[in-house]
Amino acid sequence: MTAQLNARGDVAVLVPAAGAGLRLGPGGPKALRLLAGEPLLVHAIRRVAAADSVRLIVVAAPAAEVEAVRELLAPVAPVTVVAGGAERQESVSLALAAVPAEIEVVLVHDAARALTPPQLIESVAAAVRQGHPAVIPVLPVVDTIKEVGPGELGPGEPGPGEIVLGTVDRSVLRSVQTPQGFRHEVLAAVHASADGALTDDAGLVEKAGLPVTCVPGSELALKITRPLDLILAEALLHVRSP
Ligand code: C5P
Repeated sequence: MTAQLNARGDVAVLVPAAGAGLRLGPGGPKALRLLAGEPLLVHAIRRVAAADSVRLIVVAAPAAEVEAVRELLAPVAPVTVVAGGAERQESVSLALAAVPAEIEVVLVHDAARALTPPQLIESVAAAVRQGHPAVIPVLPVVDTIKEVGPGELGPGEPGPGEIVLGTVDRSVLRSVQTPQGFRHEVLAAVHASADGALTDDAGLVEKAGLPVTCVPGSELALKITRPLDLILAEALLHVRSP
């Protein structure tokens, strides 16, 4: 039942995709949105499977869609598909339960980052292998960031507006991508005691008081969510074949 890729790999990659948005019917679910004629999830899984260290991929799908997602991914790579839960965190926990104890490195990846290059998967895994309990890929923040609070709009423009409270020092800020990588026992421990509130697995590790280490991210690992992202992703596929 456990579909394996490289039997000598030491990495499992979990892809939580069990949000209501994954329903295979009409309605434009994010992970199944088409990019160059194929669902984002397919693009993402193909690149994960191309990373040599990956032994196992576990996708959490909506309970009613497990069989359909299995069929969708069967031609792409050997993938284990499990039923997810009510919250993203529960879906990650259920996917993690399918990972055998001897796999020491577990990555959690977002299907919307469909063009994430295999090299980024390898560099996150390598940093975990070196002994870091949790590793995230990051990029510098390019925009100036302001902190705002409620304020008035200009004269003659009644209604709520916003006023700048301060400018954040962006040199200490980073945008966080996936895959986020963990030592297996660390991810298992923080999930066992999590209360369901966070959307970010590294955040659970932070709350547990353990260090989270940054590695350089990749512009190709952009999160494809808005129409403009899809256009950019299509262009990237044509010029770089990532
Ligand atoms: O809804 P949100 O954008 O936070 O979902 C983030 C990711 O977590 C999506 O890929 C979604 O499919 C997944 N998810 C899940 N199980 C849930 C809810 C969300 O796997 N119950």
